[in-house]
Amino acid sequence: MAVGTAPGKVILLGEHAVVYGQPAIAVPVTHVQATAVVEDAPAGTGITIVARDLGRRFRISNREPRGRAAAALARTVHNTLRRLGRSIDLDLEITLSSTVPIGRGLGSGAAVATAIVRALAQHLGGYLTSRDVSDLVYQTELLHHGTPSGIDNTVIAFGKPVYFIRDRCDEVFWPGRPFWLAIGDTGIPSSTRRVVADVRDRWQRDRPTYDAHFAAIGALVAQAREALIKGDLHELGRLMIANQDELRAIGTSSDALERLIAAAMAAGALGAKLSGSGRGGNMIALVDETTSDAVAAALRCAGAQGVIITRVS
Ligand code: MEV
Repeated sequence: MAVGTAPGKVILLGEHAVVYGQPAIAVPVTHVQATAVVEDAPAGTGITIVARDLGRRFRISNREPRGRAAAALARTVHNTLRRLGRSIDLDLEITLSSTVPIGRGLGSGAAVATAIVRALAQHLGGYLTSRDVSDLVYQTELLHHGTPSGIDNTVIAFGKPVYFIRDRCDEVFWPGRPFWLAIGDTGIPSSTRRVVADVRDRWQRDRPTYDAHFAAIGALVAQAREALIKGDLHELGRLMIANQDELRAIGTSSDALERLIAAAMAAGALGAKLSGSGRGGNMIALVDETTSDAVAAALRCAGAQGVIITRVS
């Protein structure tokens, strides 16, 4: 038997602009986790996926299973076995469970795929680097999101804060000082695929305006990297607020997100913004030991359906 796990993630700064070649920073969220358990199954039973969260059990074959989520799981298994030089002619049961909320911008799909890749590699005795894992999970992300930048699979596979530029740079780094994030859930599902496609439509209709917003976000991310390395959390907070102004301008915020952001700031957060694709999903607030309880309470009061406090180091 082998067990593979993977954390969730949040984008600290740079979402959307990262799809257009600007840098972004993402951090793992270790308080939530996806788990895959791979066990040998009776001879002749083939490979079965038991996806508890989807309420589904299905056999891996050469036919794609019904539904995008199941197809993504099957694709992950096929690609991993191919990468390990194995065929699907094996008898295995792969049981999946996850505490990463689905459809909230916390990388649930990438986390489950990463857990599967790791568990299969361990069970079958294959060696995969974090970059190999990330590349395999990117193939799954293509099915989930259409045109992903690759930042979600990178931060989840490496399990460390990353500074990421599409097709150019994925640099793991250590913040100069640990910090805490309060992650507030609007309770509204957010489809990354849909919001990314909508931003693309707007960009195609008015490229100069959107390119200027994306460049402004890229400049904020570069400054945030310096602030993080120095451990200057006040500066990081200021940059998060400026990033939120840009995200509002490109149409990815919403009343629900703005309500939670305002509540977090009023309760003492150093900065706050939406995180991920936006419209619904999660917002993040930069907090410390002295403000985290007050910010979490203020978020719940303002309607957050769930609050996670996570430490990033
Ligand atoms: C999703 O976590 C972040 C987006 O920038 C999309 C992407 O990078 O693929 C909205």
